[in-house]
Amino acid sequence: MERKWWKEAVVYQIYPRSFQDSNGDGIGDLNGIRERLDYLKQLGIDVIWLSPIYQSPNDDNGYDISDYKKVMDEFGTMKDFDDLLKAAHENGIKILLDLVVNHTSDEHPWFLESRKSRENPYRDYYIWKEGKGEGEPPNNWGSCFGGSAWKLDEQTGMYYLHLFSPRQPDLNWENEKVRKEVFEMMDWWCRKGIDGFRMDVISMISKDPALPDGEVKDDLYGDFSPYAVHGPKVHTYLKEMNQKVLSNYDLMTVGETAGVTVEEARKYAGAREHELNMVFHFEHVEGDGELLKWTDKKPDLLRLKRILSRWQEELGDDAWNSLYWDNHDQPRAVSRFGDDSSRYREVSAKMLATCLHMMRGTPYIYQGEELGMTNFPFTELTQFRDIESLNAYKELTGKGLVSHEKMMSYLRCKSRDNARTPMQWDNGPAAGFSKGVPWIPVNPNYSEINAKKELADENSVFHYYRKLIRLRKNYKIIVYGSYQLIMKDDIRIFAYIRNLGTEKLLVLCNFSNEEAELSFPEGFKGEEAECLIYNYDCPPDIRQGRLRPYEAAVYYAEIK
Ligand code: NOJ
Repeated sequence: MERKWWKEAVVYQIYPRSFQDSNGDGIGDLNGIRERLDYLKQLGIDVIWLSPIYQSPNDDNGYDISDYKKVMDEFGTMKDFDDLLKAAHENGIKILLDLVVNHTSDEHPWFLESRKSRENPYRDYYIWKEGKGEGEPPNNWGSCFGGSAWKLDEQTGMYYLHLFSPRQPDLNWENEKVRKEVFEMMDWWCRKGIDGFRMDVISMISKDPALPDGEVKDDLYGDFSPYAVHGPKVHTYLKEMNQKVLSNYDLMTVGETAGVTVEEARKYAGAREHELNMVFHFEHVEGDGELLKWTDKKPDLLRLKRILSRWQEELGDDAWNSLYWDNHDQPRAVSRFGDDSSRYREVSAKMLATCLHMMRGTPYIYQGEELGMTNFPFTELTQFRDIESLNAYKELTGKGLVSHEKMMSYLRCKSRDNARTPMQWDNGPAAGFSKGVPWIPVNPNYSEINAKKELADENSVFHYYRKLIRLRKNYKIIVYGSYQLIMKDDIRIFAYIRNLGTEKLLVLCNFSNEEAELSFPEGFKGEEAECLIYNYDCPPDIRQGRLRPYEAAVYYAEIK
């Protein structure tokens, strides 16, 4: 297995809108991030992934870009970005930008031109089609944010494709000029000195040109995924991108590839494929919905173990895993996979961190996860800001598919806004996030859960993450060791062994709020094994063979 800096790195995702506001307008900004670099340095992370910072009308909080070479006004200026990049580099921290090129904003100059006339030179930058008939879109595809994926543009009487909101028209990657513009823009940022890209829905850039109808479920719209996810030319385009841009720099690249299988991931991230370094798969955070993505049930541990272990075991030595529990599109990890009650929040947040950070792959921490930040206790629809949540409420309750109460329960569990409430820095006004009124409410638990408090407590979730990161730096087995799931059918314990040469690691995690029994595997029973980290005040009792609720521990042994 080839050593690479991005395999050994720990990434920290920042959602700039909610991280730190420096000018009192209630919206986080780049100078705010710069002010917090010390905190990130103390945590020990190597790389920041910044969710989009570009000029945007914010229909989807920056994932709708109107100018790729300008910083969003609310976030600051290009000078602020340059200062941030410089300061991060001086602190030994690299920066990944979010690359959103499946679509632009409808306010991007390319789209403003494109919609003007059928003959406009930019017409072919987007995907335009005639309707099937009067008032009937070209096909039955539904958009990810509800409704049809097509919008009729009155000006020219044709429909354009938008797999997300109507204000996010899809770019036409078949058009060589589009690819050239995108590659030139990427190169421009690389020359500025950024360290890589997280590529937004990059698996969707190639569409089957026949645009066939999709299968209809729940009486809603047709599923576009067989025709627009891992589409016919996606790998051709990524190879071209790699050859023209990525290969000229020492970058880290991670593709957001919803619907990806292990086999497909090898194509995106195989070392010999010359496309990307790694991808985000979604199997462990998706596919458990009762109605589309929506559910209010706790995840099933056996399913979780099966999925994560398959990725660990089958991706092979040639490709590389990304590891995450949450991000800006997912609810808070501790509320979802752990237990956010005051009794178990800290211990279960540490258990989850142990389980993830001891796996093979590059771990991603989403802002606030290192504090054990929780979901928000939403009670009113007015507390939501997210386009996906608001549209889903309207569409699903509107069609009578779900009641108001049930939908609120779904949103409390799965709304993306759970992740987007402001970072909880201290117990002052607005949790130290802003001197103004935050754009989205602060979680009322901020006086209990905040960075200031955790920094001062050496047993906090924050310091536990620090230790995990330090262990990764000190033990190559954590980065490169092979993975083997044990106790496969245990419904409470997630346990696995890592191996590298003569070294062995045993990772034990109780995912339940009850005591769980186990027998320690050979080689870890006696004094030969050292407990590297544990989340209670002492390691588990090996002789008793029992884990306390949400207990986690990691043992290290060398075979002599
Ligand atoms: C995936 C991003 O993570 C999400 O936040 C966004 O809404 C969609 N892509 C559309 O860009």
